[in-house]
Amino acid sequence: MKSALSAAYPAARFRRFKKMPATRALVRENTLSVDDLIWPVFLCDGENVEQPVVSMPGVVRHSVDRVVEAAKQAYDLGIPAICLFPYTDPSLKTADCAEAWNPENLSNRATRAIKKAVPDLAIMTDVALDPYNINGHDGFVVDGEILNDETVEALVKQTLSQAEAGADIIGPSDMMDGRIRAMREALENEGHTNVMIMSYAAKYASGFYGPFRDAVGAAGALKGDKSTYQMDPANSNEALRLVARDLSEGADMVMVKPGMPYLDICRLVKDQFGAPTFAYQVSGEYAMLNAAGQNGWLDLDKVMMESLLAFKRAGCDGILTYFAPKAAKVLAKL
Ligand code: PBG
Repeated sequence: MKSALSAAYPAARFRRFKKMPATRALVRENTLSVDDLIWPVFLCDGENVEQPVVSMPGVVRHSVDRVVEAAKQAYDLGIPAICLFPYTDPSLKTADCAEAWNPENLSNRATRAIKKAVPDLAIMTDVALDPYNINGHDGFVVDGEILNDETVEALVKQTLSQAEAGADIIGPSDMMDGRIRAMREALENEGHTNVMIMSYAAKYASGFYGPFRDAVGAAGALKGDKSTYQMDPANSNEALRLVARDLSEGADMVMVKPGMPYLDICRLVKDQFGAPTFAYQVSGEYAMLNAAGQNGWLDLDKVMMESLLAFKRAGCDGILTYFAPKAAKVLAKL
């Protein structure tokens, strides 16, 4: 960046343009809009069910009929996309994870129902085996090891079942090597040429995912951690190599996850590639801000909007956030 010419005080007074809301607005460099929001939602079986997720105040698991209502509300608020995460009944979890590509699984049923009711809302789905795996891992586990190539074959089946159900954006969150190429090839071969892939390219092995694992029921099942496939929080060059790899294999958009502790990575990725770049403000970030808000230690609306704007400043095109409807209401001054 060129260093801007600045006069010395008192010729330059940075307080001049801060003097009134109108001039502060004129010089504002970044803005948050409802167009920037993707809303992750949790699904559960049953009818007319909304189960609160204890560690995520205000977040519920919705049965399919209720998620359709939630999707309509999101669409009416102007939110462009919703992202589906199923809570899978423990009786459906197996070592071969076959429920992941069952055309009638919860995620696929919800996709079809939402598409029918609100066709213009973009639907993103999650590709990874953890909601279906008795081991709680994103890949197949054999003798304590996560198998890469066998997992990729399963992820391809899962991808195709989601595309057939009507998903607009496939979100592989598994971090296996080679999955983007395999998924893209399969989508092209099966005629799903306009289905997008948003790769969880720089996904870190993070403690901030705790509440999510409760929400999808993977916490109890998980043995060990995910450090053999998710990224080391100490690394940033590796994030750029992963993003380069995933774009070259056919990802349309890339994601950095978690969000707030990794804003430096968002900026590096945007500057290096200029590709559509998203951040996931994850469950632990949501829980943390809400907990402080509930205690009266922070003004929740204020820190919510500030944290979301920070992603725009860091170069993101959009944010996956559980705050999406709440933030959309603030933006619409409702
Ligand atoms: C797993 C997955 C995770 C999240 C999205 N997909 C958790 C994990 O990797 O264990 C986390 C989202 C959040 O914390 O909000 N495939």
